[in-house]
Amino acid sequence: MTGSCSSSRPQHFFFFFFFFFFLFVPFLSLAQQSVDINSSNWDIPPKSLCLSQQGNFLHSEFFHNLKRLVSSIQSLRSNTYNFYNLSIGTNSDKDKVEAMGLCNRVLSRVDCLNCISHAAQILTTSHCPRSREAHIRTSKCMFRYSDKPIFGKLKTFPTMEAVNPNNATANRTDFIRMQSKLLNHLILQAARGDSKRKYAQGDGPAPPPYTRFYATTQCTPDLSHKDCNRCLLYGLQNATEGRIGIRWFCPSCNFQIESDLRFFLLDFEYEPDGPDRSTITGKHVKDSKIKDAQLFQMDIDTIRLATNDFSPNNHLGEGGFGAVYKGVLVSGEEVAVKRLSMKSGQGDNEFINEVSLVAKLQHRNLVTLLGFCLDGEERLLIYEFFKNTSLEHYIFDSNRRIILEWETRKRIILGVARGLLYLHEDSRIKIIHRDLKASNVLLDDEMYPKIADFGMAKLFDTDQTNQIKFTSKVSGTYGYMAPEYAMNGQFSVKTDVFSFGVLVLEIITGKKHNWSPEEETSLFLLSYVWKCWREGKVLNIVDPTLIETKGLSDEIMKCIHIGLLCVQENAESRPTMAYVVVMLSASSFALPRPSQPGFCPLDGESSSSRGNHTSSIPSFNSVSITQLVPR
Ligand SMILES: *[C@@H]1O[C@H](CO)[C@@H](O)[C@H](O)[C@H]1NC(C)=O
Ligand SMILES: *[C@@H]1O[C@H](CO)[C@@H](O)[C@H](O)[C@H]1NC(C)=O
Ligand SMILES: *[C@@H]1O[C@H](CO)[C@@H](O)[C@H](O)[C@H]1NC(C)=O
Ligand SMILES: *[C@@H]1O[C@H](CO)[C@@H](O)[C@H](O)[C@H]1NC(C)=O
Ligand SMILES: *[C@@H]1O[C@H](CO)[C@@H](O)[C@H](O)[C@H]1NC(C)=O
Ligand SMILES: *[C@@H]1O[C@H](CO)[C@@H](O)[C@H](O)[C@H]1NC(C)=O
Ligand SMILES: *[C@@H]1O[C@H](CO)[C@@H](O)[C@H](O)[C@H]1NC(C)=O
Repeated sequence: MTGSCSSSRPQHFFFFFFFFFFLFVPFLSLAQQSVDINSSNWDIPPKSLCLSQQGNFLHSEFFHNLKRLVSSIQSLRSNTYNFYNLSIGTNSDKDKVEAMGLCNRVLSRVDCLNCISHAAQILTTSHCPRSREAHIRTSKCMFRYSDKPIFGKLKTFPTMEAVNPNNATANRTDFIRMQSKLLNHLILQAARGDSKRKYAQGDGPAPPPYTRFYATTQCTPDLSHKDCNRCLLYGLQNATEGRIGIRWFCPSCNFQIESDLRFFLLDFEYEPDGPDRSTITGKHVKDSKIKDAQLFQMDIDTIRLATNDFSPNNHLGEGGFGAVYKGVLVSGEEVAVKRLSMKSGQGDNEFINEVSLVAKLQHRNLVTLLGFCLDGEERLLIYEFFKNTSLEHYIFDSNRRIILEWETRKRIILGVARGLLYLHEDSRIKIIHRDLKASNVLLDDEMYPKIADFGMAKLFDTDQTNQIKFTSKVSGTYGYMAPEYAMNGQFSVKTDVFSFGVLVLEIITGKKHNWSPEEETSLFLLSYVWKCWREGKVLNIVDPTLIETKGLSDEIMKCIHIGLLCVQENAESRPTMAYVVVMLSASSFALPRPSQPGFCPLDGESSSSRGNHTSSIPSFNSVSITQLVPR
């Protein structure tokens, strides 16, 4: 594994930093800078190149245009290709600015625009404050601009490289040959891409002691097929050979290859390439568009028509904060309409602001908010609709459950984990879901999971500033709630982790959190799984249809193990979602030992202290005593 044999050497970083800061001038000698990195560390320092400096720059029309261009990046209509080209000024204009930005494919649309915008800011304000042409590369994105045309023009200079300091321990000749083979294959594939995306990813065999190489290749899509090919082949020849990890960048293209480390997402895990949703909903919208071009305000008549005036036949269910109705727009597009029942205490503008924030949360594993409606007291949220309903519909039904094979369940678990991770750490605003449960995990046509009902608390709570928060309005679902939330209204990302753990155990056992075994009605799902785990009989409680498939027990055990780690009594002992995703994705990983779950009575303790899981709050004692249990 890369992890065990790579050690980053800090002096390289310092060397690079000082070199970078003190010697930074637009000299070509800096063009090739090789940095040693380890594969888990993505943060190589940004590198820039400043060209054609101009005196009196700050008073020029060009500078004025550039400033406008940079500040407009954040408000660009995001696209899934992570490529942006912009210009200000006409072709005959000597002060015209052309610019382009490109992000690594793994970045979400929102993160990509943030990355490019930030890179452009630091480039134009601190790195190259007086240049008519400049370039910056960070580990996640690239931005460049010029006073000359750059669109469709190949540019391979400056190059930047970051290599893993370790040489291959394999047969070097074989190692290099097999790396090149994979890269050559992916170079052809990327070059064949279209005018929106030129990108390829894949894996191939590696010589022992490694098992696979993983690589990505990418060009800015404005390049021709031939130039993309040429650019990447140049990179392959220019990059250092024989290292176990190589990242190579130039303005027009880049590639990365790692040994035994899949650093990119699987195809289905990326944000989908579907049509931009504003083109779907755009036509039903009156011209009451709000600032954010992505989110639409619909009028109440459109929604009444779509839902048969909120007819009981269209009623899909009661979610947190209100009833949900199925709606069919005039175009035939199906939507889910949530009719908020609670008064939020917010003014219209506040509501619109919060809704637009929530709408910016876009991830493959989150339900998309399409629009909203505001009419007097009436507040509605319009979401994409899923025919296959929710996980709850399948997992707790002995017949329907059979459809969910282990591969599907694994995908659901990982998808929900990624969706939560995005809410917790990767989105622009940090969101704690607070009501994750099987009925809030919707399933799309291919049974990929989509988390619903996130961000609702944002629309109702104003105190979202501290790391750990308290609320007097505990609004989750008992059984999924972490003890500290249910009892004290104290919530943090770790309360979501708890709910996630409950969900994982439900997915694996096919049993609801409030299920009890016949022989021991005082035990509920968590305590029963824990009991079986301690007795080494945990496979007894796994959904029998899963056990029939041979060879899965290790994977299933691992998921139960992770589930138990997530439901631990002590919030601090629970892993973060980032760690959960790592544990779920890694093929071999030493997991910590779980301690007793929250809401789980001590051995021999009577069930009277457990409380009523559906409505009342468990007794305080049973929870505080368990902290004395040795880990
Ligand atoms: C890689 O580098 C990062 C930051 O420099 C460090 O935190 C991490 O522990 C390193 N990982 C390995 C496996 O050396
Ligand atoms: C952006 O790219 C398109 C081609 O996809 C091109 O036609 C257009 O002129 C470019 N826009 C700007 C502002 O350069
Ligand atoms: C890797 O190999 C190259 C060339 O053989 C050598 O110059 C370099 O010092 C080696 N690096 C390490 C870390 O062994
Ligand atoms: C490496 O492998 C090649 C053929 O794949 C072989 O010719 C060569 O002798 C090997 N080198 C070493 C040092 O094992
Ligand atoms: C890679 O290209 C840079 C110029 O961008 C050059 O300075 C460097 O020597 C090249 N390295 C190799 C190994 O060709
Ligand atoms: C999910 O929905 C799609 C499309 O409606 C349907 O083809 C598929 O059979 C459904 N899957 C399950 C497991 O019901
Ligand atoms: C839990 O509380 C609800 C409502 O108070 C009650 O209807 C139910 O019987 C209680 N269940 C148990 C097991 O005490």
